[in-house]
Amino acid sequence: MPESFAPIPDLLYGTAWKKDPTAALTELALRTGFRGVDTANQLRHYHEVGVGEGLAAAYRAGIVTRSDLFLQTKFTYRQGQDHRLPYDPAASLTVQVAQSMASSLEHLGTDYVDSFVLHGPAWRHGWSPDDAEVWEAMRKERAAGRTRLLGVSNVGLHHLDHMMAAQNEAPAFVQNRCFAVAGWDSDVRRFCREREITYQGFSLLTANLEVLQHPVVTDPAAKLNATPAQVVFAFARAIGILPLTGTTNPEHMKQDLASRELTLPAKVIQAIEHIAG
Ligand SMILES: NC(=O)c1ccc[n+]([C@@H]2O[C@H](COP(=O)([O-])OP(=O)(O)OC[C@H]3O[C@@H](n4cnc5c(N)ncnc54)[C@H](OP(=O)(O)O)[C@@H]3O)[C@@H](O)[C@H]2O)c1
Repeated sequence: MPESFAPIPDLLYGTAWKKDPTAALTELALRTGFRGVDTANQLRHYHEVGVGEGLAAAYRAGIVTRSDLFLQTKFTYRQGQDHRLPYDPAASLTVQVAQSMASSLEHLGTDYVDSFVLHGPAWRHGWSPDDAEVWEAMRKERAAGRTRLLGVSNVGLHHLDHMMAAQNEAPAFVQNRCFAVAGWDSDVRRFCREREITYQGFSLLTANLEVLQHPVVTDPAAKLNATPAQVVFAFARAIGILPLTGTTNPEHMKQDLASRELTLPAKVIQAIEHIAG
């Protein structure tokens, strides 16, 4: 690992579902100004080798160096994968985590990632013994210097409560889908706020299509000469969410980065936060 690290960015570029164009889109995102990239060692939804190719192209072009970047990948259980696995399914979970990480580092052409995330817990109902084993294995990866920070994804408050009791350690990151109808995941965000965990929100646009057309968003967008998507990203940041965007559109990439300059009035933030009552 280098002596200095990139700061945690205020917007992450998500690389899910991009298939062959993943490399070109990752390079374009870096050219456009993104400095944080989210991926996963899960061929069902992510082409992590393509992310590595995009990074390599950006390094060759002199756009960024590795230490300018915040790279995040994930360990995904067998049940979240298809037949293309980055580990031996017959091996223990501890070994699977180590194999998944080794494969991610190879894909990304690096000897460390900035964040290693458990893609989703094994059970819907709570933090299981399997999750505890995986978390211990992830801690070993951190101790060995292969990741700076650890996170969990697709979790409810009950997972986090159980996790804290079982592991006596809070993750650095929680990454969740963020529905306006659930107060933008208000329970989990409160848990994170109280423990200084960075909450990463995805599907801010796609899970909230009606919000993008609602006057609480479209009116300030018109007043501020911004797009509804920019207002949603600015709102998310204002309430402490680190947003992800996986846009494939060069103009949207620019707009999403520009949303960081947008300051919303407190009244607008409150209205959007409580849009679902
Ligand atoms: N942990 C998990 O289980 C999990 C699950 C899902 C996603 N993620 C992560 O989160 C990332 C983002 O995923 P997402 O679910 O939020 O969906 P997304 O891939 O970001 O999709 C956003 C959609 O909104 C559209 N869009 C319209 N205007 C836009 C604008 N100004 N900016 C951005 N998008 C605009 C995009 O179309 P255009 O392409 O035309 O812009 C796209 O269809 C993923 O790539 C992945 O890294 C993680």
